[in-house]
Amino acid sequence: MDAWVRWHEDYDVPGSSLSVRLGLVAGHVARAVESRPAGTVRLVSACAGQGHDVAQALRGHPRRGDVTGRLIELDPVNAAGARERLAAAGLSGLEVVEADAGVTAPYAGAVPAGVVLMCGVFGNISDEDIRRTIHALPELAEPGARVIWTRHRGTPDATPRIRDWFAEAGFREVAFDAPAGLTIGVGVHELVAPPRPLTEQRLFTFVVHG
Ligand SMILES: C[S@@+](CC[C@H](N)C(=O)[O-])C[C@H]1O[C@@H](n2cnc3c(N)ncnc32)[C@H](O)[C@@H]1O
Repeated sequence: MDAWVRWHEDYDVPGSSLSVRLGLVAGHVARAVESRPAGTVRLVSACAGQGHDVAQALRGHPRRGDVTGRLIELDPVNAAGARERLAAAGLSGLEVVEADAGVTAPYAGAVPAGVVLMCGVFGNISDEDIRRTIHALPELAEPGARVIWTRHRGTPDATPRIRDWFAEAGFREVAFDAPAGLTIGVGVHELVAPPRPLTEQRLFTFVVHG
């Protein structure tokens, strides 16, 4: 089995860092959807894996019927898992596309979004790519959109500079979770600068391989 498929197994281990992270991320996604104006809420998830976070956040959510959008995932097994999980959660407005989320092309038609997930990405790409991606996020986002992101806080902890890069790129911090005793970090940033139109570019390349 591919390592990026196996990576998801810890979601099923109660008390694991990943299951704690899931609870935090899903809570932020649910609140981000609630924060959006009445009507359609567009959501995109980069490197979406098996869609655990989106499904957990929106299963039974009062506004789940408003949510449309796209999960972008390269691995076909993970993408199939995400499709099954979204269907089981009744989230028919969300599609899963098998594509490289490190370039902007697969976001076309799904953005600007009100909720953007960048979970499990910043720990697998260079600092230069993290900064470039954050600076490009106003191309994926509507005014007031929320970006939910994760990054481990293992030494050297990159989360302080990631938070600075969000401020530089025109975002205000809504939340940052750094649970004691765990090295996970979960951030939520809201776009306050004007959004920009989508341009064709490479955002990131994974340097950690599954
Ligand atoms: C650390 S996992 C995170 C999965 C999910 N976002 C989560 O937090 O549960 C990284 C995921 O990115 C996928 N991936 C790796 N490179 C990718 C790329 N260039 N484009 C899209 N997905 C990619 C892997 O297959 C894997 O499912």
